[in-house]
Amino acid sequence: MDFFGVEVEACEGVYAPCDDTFLLGRVLLSEVVPGERVLEVGTGTGAIALLAARLGARVVATDLLQEAVECAQRNARRNGLRLEVVRCDLMSCLSARFSLIVFNPPYLPAEEWEVRDKLSVAWHGGSDGREVMDRFIPVCSNYLERGGRVLMVQSSLSRPEETMKMFLSMGFEVSVVAEESFPFERLQVVRAVLP
Ligand SMILES: C[S@@+](CC[C@H](N)C(=O)[O-])C[C@H]1O[C@@H](n2cnc3c(N)ncnc32)[C@H](O)[C@@H]1O
Repeated sequence: MDFFGVEVEACEGVYAPCDDTFLLGRVLLSEVVPGERVLEVGTGTGAIALLAARLGARVVATDLLQEAVECAQRNARRNGLRLEVVRCDLMSCLSARFSLIVFNPPYLPAEEWEVRDKLSVAWHGGSDGREVMDRFIPVCSNYLERGGRVLMVQSSLSRPEETMKMFLSMGFEVSVVAEESFPFERLQVVRAVLP
């Protein structure tokens, strides 16, 4: 598929670009500054990370799944784009700082018994949908340069006001920069800036 000029091939067992990916991709088009250092957490096929690379950023990406790491590497090769991809939980394996961190996290609420396959790691955010976001937000400033930004997707199904409160309590300036409604949820892209 064409993802804003990047050719992205889906891979078995890896989250394929979906409405949330495209919403985030549209924001990225006007956000990335050529030459800046970008981190994508939870890269899946690599679509977002590779779009940032196509826009001129130097990009590192992580994912919990080895299948996703390999998929993103394949898509990087397919497009002749440079991308460093590592398997890790959030960004715990990194020590560098970035000017932009992008994350389309697993945000859907579901009970454990409803979760059947390995790919659920891509969408399952625990019983309230916030499990992964609530681990990510408190540590993201450790990986940001001064003035750095975070772009994160969230859903109306997982208490979006909590995200705003968390970023504000950490001293970020926060705003919603994109929104779209779907039959069962409203998706947002939150932009948080470290002053
Ligand atoms: C909603 S998908 C988004 C994939 C891709 N970025 C996109 O927008 O199409 C979430 C991704 O985060 C990964 N993931 C889930 N939990 C993670 C964690 N703790 N650390 C790193 N990656 C994680 C999943 O494997 C999946 O690839």
